[in-house]
Amino acid sequence: MHDFHYKDDILFCEDVPLGKMAQAVGTPLYVYSSKTLTDHFQKLDRAFSSVEHLICYSVKSNSNLAVLSLLKNLGSGFDIVSGGELFRALKAGADPRKIVFAGVGKTADEIEFALKENILFFTVESFPELEEIDAVARRLGKTAQIAIRVNPDVDPKTHQYTSTGKAENKFGLDMEASVEAYRKALTLKGMRATALHMHIGSQIVDTEPYQEAVKKIIPLIQRLKKVGVPLETLDIGGGLGIVYKEETPSTAEAFARAVLPLIRDLGLKILIEPGRFVAGNAGVLLTKVLYLKTSPVKNFVIVDAGMNDLIRPSLYGAYHGILPVVNHRIGKVVSDVVGPICESGDFFAKDRSLPSVEPGDILAIMSAGAYGFSMASHYNSRPRVAEVMVRGNQFQVIREREKLEDLIRGEKVGEV
Ligand code: LLP
Repeated sequence: MHDFHYKDDILFCEDVPLGKMAQAVGTPLYVYSSKTLTDHFQKLDRAFSSVEHLICYSVKSNSNLAVLSLLKNLGSGFDIVSGGELFRALKAGADPRKIVFAGVGKTADEIEFALKENILFFTVESFPELEEIDAVARRLGKTAQIAIRVNPDVDPKTHQYTSTGKAENKFGLDMEASVEAYRKALTLKGMRATALHMHIGSQIVDTEPYQEAVKKIIPLIQRLKKVGVPLETLDIGGGLGIVYKEETPSTAEAFARAVLPLIRDLGLKILIEPGRFVAGNAGVLLTKVLYLKTSPVKNFVIVDAGMNDLIRPSLYGAYHGILPVVNHRIGKVVSDVVGPICESGDFFAKDRSLPSVEPGDILAIMSAGAYGFSMASHYNSRPRVAEVMVRGNQFQVIREREKLEDLIRGEKVGEV
């Protein structure tokens, strides 16, 4: 499942002790396993090997150039949501014909950038956006390929902030509006509607919501084909869940077994957009224990990472395992693990039973490879941390720790 394991009470990433990297590069520090990234990508690729398919890794989950480049070399395409992510994917050497562009608020500049790079398709989420893409494409003398993002109104049974395929969510168009949007697209000279897209949410552990969504979408595809929409690709989005605690998410194989029989005979190329499935368990955040503090009701382990480095526990109440990189085996203590940020929401664990630690010890916050660094901020004027990639017994810094000067880049004292 991943490549972070104890050998004699010392926690390793592949063949490198995590403590060694913390010492060499400092903390806080993100560490990624190239082996886990590769394994997870290939598991999904293999599971869909019986159909024509393309995996477009979701850049937002972890957008470091080294991660993108590794996945590109495995044949991955990319799901992007901004001009910035397009810039990153291209810098990593991505094939633009394997890039798909989603998001409800693409600007004219972003559309132009993507059109000039000849990306595979735009996922369109509203009527005004349809017209905007058409207008930009005609101005440039180009034909945009597009998918309509269909909102199938199914409950993915995940956190409300990461649910995207219910009627009340801002994403996509409902079934009837989708038909109308495809009809409209047929009349616009600047585009060809060659794909259909859905993405119902994130950290989905069961296959049923996907099956339910696909079952709703199949009659729609048949209808669209009848009215002459030149569909070539069905993009079923991302969202596959991973283990953070005791979840039992469906495997890549089980996922393929659940959805492929439903869509295999549509005659469409299948596109999938996993982020977390590939990167989530491939990364940890290393943090140093600064102080121990005890109040009448709590024990606190105060560490040098904060919610600006990993916001998932604060934002979603998400659970992340926490392991000492050296297990001293001197008993357990129930504590809150908290950061230095001036907010009570700045925590990584509450009332967690952890092996007893001392100031100076290093902890690994697990399953932090997806939506960890990519959601980091400078809040409290904290420079963003370094990132490291491990391959076998080697490691390399793939993003330098920011310096104080990086905090004020582009700022002016001002004279007004
Ligand atoms: N495709 C689209 C159109 C998406 O919006 C997303 C994620 C994905 C694919 C990839 O989803 P994944 O396979 O990683 O679940 N910050 C949240 C997750 C937000 C997901 C946003 N969209 C978290 O930390 O849990």
